[in-house]
Amino acid sequence: MRKLTLLLLSVLASLFAFAQDTSLTIIPQPVSEQLTGGHFVLPASIVVEARDQKPLAHTLQDLKTHLSLPTGYSVTITSQPSPAATIRLVLNKTADNTLGAEGYTLSVTPKSVVIRANQAAGIFYGIGTLYQLLPKEIGSPVPVKKVSWQAPCVTITDYPRFSWRGIMLDVARHFSTKQEVKGFIDEMVQYKFNLLHLHLTDDEGWRIEIKSLPKLTTIGAWNVRRTGTFGTFDAPAANEPKDYGGYYTQDDIREIVQYAKDRFVDILPEVDVPGHSLAAVASYPQLSCTEGSENYRVRSGEKIMDWHKGGFTALIDNTLCPANERIYPFLDSVFTELAALFPFPYIHVGGDECAKNFWEKSDAVKQLMQQQGLKTMEEVQSYFEKRVEKIVESKGKKVIGWDEILEGGLAPNAAVMSWRGVAGGIAAAKLGHQVVMSPTTFVYLDYMQGDAAIEPPVYATLRLSTVYSYEPVPDSVDPKLIIGGQATLWSEQIYNVRHRQYMLWPRGMAVAEDFWSPKDKKDWNSFAHRVEAHFGRMDAEQINYARSMFDAIITPKKDVSAFDSITVDLSTEVAGLDIYYSFDNSHPDNFYPKYTSTLSIPKEAAWLKVITYRNGRPIGREIDVPIAELQRRVGVTGISIKPAD
Ligand code: ACM
Repeated sequence: MRKLTLLLLSVLASLFAFAQDTSLTIIPQPVSEQLTGGHFVLPASIVVEARDQKPLAHTLQDLKTHLSLPTGYSVTITSQPSPAATIRLVLNKTADNTLGAEGYTLSVTPKSVVIRANQAAGIFYGIGTLYQLLPKEIGSPVPVKKVSWQAPCVTITDYPRFSWRGIMLDVARHFSTKQEVKGFIDEMVQYKFNLLHLHLTDDEGWRIEIKSLPKLTTIGAWNVRRTGTFGTFDAPAANEPKDYGGYYTQDDIREIVQYAKDRFVDILPEVDVPGHSLAAVASYPQLSCTEGSENYRVRSGEKIMDWHKGGFTALIDNTLCPANERIYPFLDSVFTELAALFPFPYIHVGGDECAKNFWEKSDAVKQLMQQQGLKTMEEVQSYFEKRVEKIVESKGKKVIGWDEILEGGLAPNAAVMSWRGVAGGIAAAKLGHQVVMSPTTFVYLDYMQGDAAIEPPVYATLRLSTVYSYEPVPDSVDPKLIIGGQATLWSEQIYNVRHRQYMLWPRGMAVAEDFWSPKDKKDWNSFAHRVEAHFGRMDAEQINYARSMFDAIITPKKDVSAFDSITVDLSTEVAGLDIYYSFDNSHPDNFYPKYTSTLSIPKEAAWLKVITYRNGRPIGREIDVPIAELQRRVGVTGISIKPAD
């Protein structure tokens, strides 16, 4: 009987494994997907039929490389009807209205693959989904032997929920080379993002050649190399070499724009004014309210702002001066050249975190306020934003800005990027303006993604499951005004590509699903399972990612039953993990106590160490946290003397 039970269990286990192996793991989750049974196997001579090749020119070349490189198979592309074609790419003669501009249908049968779409972008996304059906090695940059190149037979219909699906890359704090930006685009499009927002200017660098203003890049693109915790560095001395940074020439920009366009990605350029403008002011001091009284230097990560509960002040004037008429022809020149380089209809004009303390002291600003009847510094900024909007619109472009541009009155046609939570987005939509959602609370991917004791330090945390839980359309606004959203990758603490990838993936996959997939198709457990399959894909592609979702979550709490002490809850983001812990300084494993309920801290314990396991194997990283740190996190000192009753 016992043998029979074991046999039954092993049959069930293998059935379960089979079911898991054949489940689809597409990210972002398509609108509809059905397994139809059986497999399609790539033949060694692949024929791709595309009758209308012109709109697909780059996509076809890419497909050829992508299929032939890892497999070693030959790929022939033909515009002739080919009954034996392996893959048929069909642009619909009559539009299928459900698919829109970016949707597709994908049919995989044992004999062939057919992708249909109204437009080339849909074919591109259909091909992206096909790659995700093939073995993970399809992403390998080198040939791979002994792989059965097969895909499960499926019928998929898919289209995006939002048309604006972006990621902001901050190339100002740490510069990304042209090649790195192209690599970034390659990563984005695997998850069907279609917009790259380049944050091109900030206190730490001006990253785009403006031919009529050469100092922006001869001076503004360079600072002093510093490594460590950005924001804490010593101010550079006058004689330190300013050789760290870089910028894109206008030819570079044209190349990046074309590279993006070939992959159905638009580029939104941002010039962040009037705050965050130290690189511009260091290049042209006459743009500030404080010319002659300051020694402006492009920032190298030293402290230049004082952040406090009630707001912030600038320690060095990093603003353009709205009362200084010279800034408007300056901005006219910048936007003229920008508008000629970037085909996207919007230009992002920044507007965030503009310190007003130098404006408050400026006689010119006081005079402007009198002349224009402006009552507050927010109205001064609004005066500036409205003039900026006129300049940008005179170049045939539309304005988008961070949600501070709402303060003091929004420029008439501006779209708003809501970052300080969702309130700015709601307010803008209620005024009838278009909104792109990018709230810190859900999509700021520069934040830590796990416990501060183990993640590279940043001042806030945003876990994968929180990113995934995001619903972009707030109740109470017209959903049509929420045109989409985007993640942000601020780069103060991101010094290199590998760490950029660590911060972006897998949280970028969650953002992709937030903005592509139908709301009712989102499911955390399914997503977490699919993410694991994508880790294998990223390994094959040699892309870095974070496995923080497997780590324990440590939640200290004030102990209500004991004076000045804490208890600790442990949990995990991913279901089905076991947590083991120690208080005796040693490294826990699965022979240590297993967490089942709230922990009290032993009186003399100095450290809590935790690790997660799945099915008897370690899966998360060990996290070691001093008890004093846990106490600090909840405002308990652990050393107070109990007051007399
Ligand atoms: C921002 O994060 N300062 C837009």
